Amino acid sequence: MLLRVPSKFEVFGLVKFYEVSEVISLNSMGLSGASGVFGLGRDELYDVASKTAIVVPAKDEDLWAFEGVIRAIPLPSPLIVVSASSREHVDVYSHEVEVVRLLSRLTGRRAVVVHQRDPAWVEVLSKTGLRSLIDGEGVRYGKGEGMILGVLVASWLGASYVGFIDSDNYLPGSVVEYALAFYTGLAMAESRYSMVRIAWPYKGKLPATDEVILRKKGRVSMHTNSVLNAALSKLRRIETEIVKTANSGEHAMSIELALRLPWAGRYAVETYELVSLLESCYVNVEFRGETCSFAPDGVKILQVETRNPHIHAEKGDEHIARMAAESLGVVYHSPLADSDLKVKIRELLITNYLYEDEPPRPRVYDIVDVDPRKIVSEYLSSSKLAFDSQS
Ligand code: GDD
Repeated sequence: MLLRVPSKFEVFGLVKFYEVSEVISLNSMGLSGASGVFGLGRDELYDVASKTAIVVPAKDEDLWAFEGVIRAIPLPSPLIVVSASSREHVDVYSHEVEVVRLLSRLTGRRAVVVHQRDPAWVEVLSKTGLRSLIDGEGVRYGKGEGMILGVLVASWLGASYVGFIDSDNYLPGSVVEYALAFYTGLAMAESRYSMVRIAWPYKGKLPATDEVILRKKGRVSMHTNSVLNAALSKLRRIETEIVKTANSGEHAMSIELALRLPWAGRYAVETYELVSLLESCYVNVEFRGETCSFAPDGVKILQVETRNPHIHAEKGDEHIARMAAESLGVVYHSPLADSDLKVKIRELLITNYLYEDEPPRPRVYDIVDVDPRKIVSEYLSSSKLAFDSQS
């Protein structure tokens, strides 16, 4: 893949946001192109891919879509499936494990599958700083909660980078492209603390009845981006539209960044990654004279616009409203938002999603003081549900 090297960036304290870079060539086959573009040679590409663990969160998705995602993730990257799928009535989880087991056997790929509601997590996590992640029966439901488990497993596997790709992607080709964008972007960032977030050219859903409509902007993303840009514009007193990927489910980062970031639960997770960085490394540094834990390097955030449309499952208006409230709730409860912005967020939720309550405050988890290797080894040795291709 060749990416256009972004020529502009905006700085907020120690957080550097780069303008969106486009995919110039989807498959450069190791050729490096001309100046102004960045691509990896074949060996470098293989090297970064093998150091990037890809986490796939799954909760009762269409098995056909799930399998397409698993087959599309490039083989050198270790695969981590974190599932919260049902185990009663239809044992969807056992189907997911079977898909991964068969494909691992055929390809030799390194893969780990864990279940979020596995009781084995309770004993292991209750002894750690992550005990708030459990609710008595397992790890709490929530996409963010699942992603935290993915980060722990990625660290246990020794990965240098961790990427996230949703399991309800109906186009395997787009999954290949996300992975290539992660590898190329992370290598281009050349930084200890870096992140690559995907901006979709078009989004579409596989609807129950209607025709597929390719939207230029995701329904929730367009609001979270605009609210976050409004907050930054006010704080810096210079208008900005730099944030294009506030809700990006498909994103990747260096493991050093992942292990130091505080994480939010449920659908607050992606927005909180940005907001917590902006709080601690911009607001607290510039307006309160504090130091940020990513100093002196700072954090680089790349945004890549891929070519494939993002086609995923339609889950209805209520789902969208919940996601919007959880995501916008992150900004609403942050010092980034002043009282005017809070009013705007409430209005936006009512007008667009018929959501009248105060948006929820995100549940936040700190993983900085836990030992991922110990947690995951203990979990795998006691779990009766997990699958590890190497055991
Ligand atoms: N492990 C786990 N646990 N996975 C979950 C859970 C959970 O509790 N809830 C959802 N998932 C999985 C889904 O199976 C899917 O693969 C992925 O997380 C995204 O969840 P969806 O419910 O399909 O979200 P969406 O497609 O509407 O929204 C996605 O895109 C948004 C941006 O447009 C998500 O990635 C959002 O987080 C993102 O903001």
